[in-house]
Amino acid sequence: ADRYAVFGHPIAHSKSPIIHTLFAEQTGERLTYTAQDVPPETFETEVRAFFAGGGKGLNCTVPLKELAWKIADHRSQRAELSRAVNTLALRPDGTIYGDNTDGIGLVRDLTVNLGLTLKGLRILLLGAGGASRGVIKPLLEHGPAHLVIANRTPEKAFQLADEFGDLGLIKGCGFSDLGTESFDLILNATAASLAGEVPALPKNILQTGGYCYDLAYGSEPTPFVLWGRDAGAAVSVDGLGMLVEQAAEAFQIWRGIRPETRPVIDALKSREH
Ligand code: ATR
Repeated sequence: ADRYAVFGHPIAHSKSPIIHTLFAEQTGERLTYTAQDVPPETFETEVRAFFAGGGKGLNCTVPLKELAWKIADHRSQRAELSRAVNTLALRPDGTIYGDNTDGIGLVRDLTVNLGLTLKGLRILLLGAGGASRGVIKPLLEHGPAHLVIANRTPEKAFQLADEFGDLGLIKGCGFSDLGTESFDLILNATAASLAGEVPALPKNILQTGGYCYDLAYGSEPTPFVLWGRDAGAAVSVDGLGMLVEQAAEAFQIWRGIRPETRPVIDALKSREH
């Protein structure tokens, strides 16, 4: 069977092995998929060893996506724009191809799984790090009314708004600049969840009946998901669906076949209870 793996640091709670194993069963593809704890210091050595040893493809997660971008010999346009790579594939000529399936994974979860229409929505994106960078273009392609990026360090939000300004109506600001304007969809792409925190947001920033989405996920509802419920969101969910969708896109890059995501999302959810 062909070998695949996810590299990350830490990696213990990764759901990727179970997701790809379920995809393989569903499609009848013969492969194995494991998780390996790889710190940044040994990333390049481990990637080379994995491919030299017969491995066919890798996912890379926090904090390795920028390093994965660097190690790729060729990259997709969306990987170039996000300056991060979450999927590496060994080409027949021995070169390494890098792609980033996070943005499309988020948009598929929002539009296909949750049934949202992004066109015309006022969207607020919290955070201006690597996770935000990867989702801006896919979001703008769906024609929201506008996209505001708010970040603890406002300069980083200004810079992203500047960089992607040609693709749609986009503005950067700090959290304290968020005033009375309300939003239909608030996406959390900050690392605050990992610290059990939620960025300080003004009351009423979420339109009544609006949506909240945390790009992070956990076995318990994340602090931001709880914040959204408290703020009266019609839907407030974590990034489990995005995780499965980005994995399906990676599976397709490697195997040329697209697995169905719905049964896998349902299986993961039922495991948690
Ligand atoms: P990632 O690849 O996950 O996006 P990153 O590039 O390090 O990681 O970016 C982390 C993001 O989370 C940044 O937007 C960061 O804000 P700063 O740019 O001001 O550092 C944000 N962040 C991290 N901890 C946070 C917290 N406790 N409250 C609010 N924002 C936080």
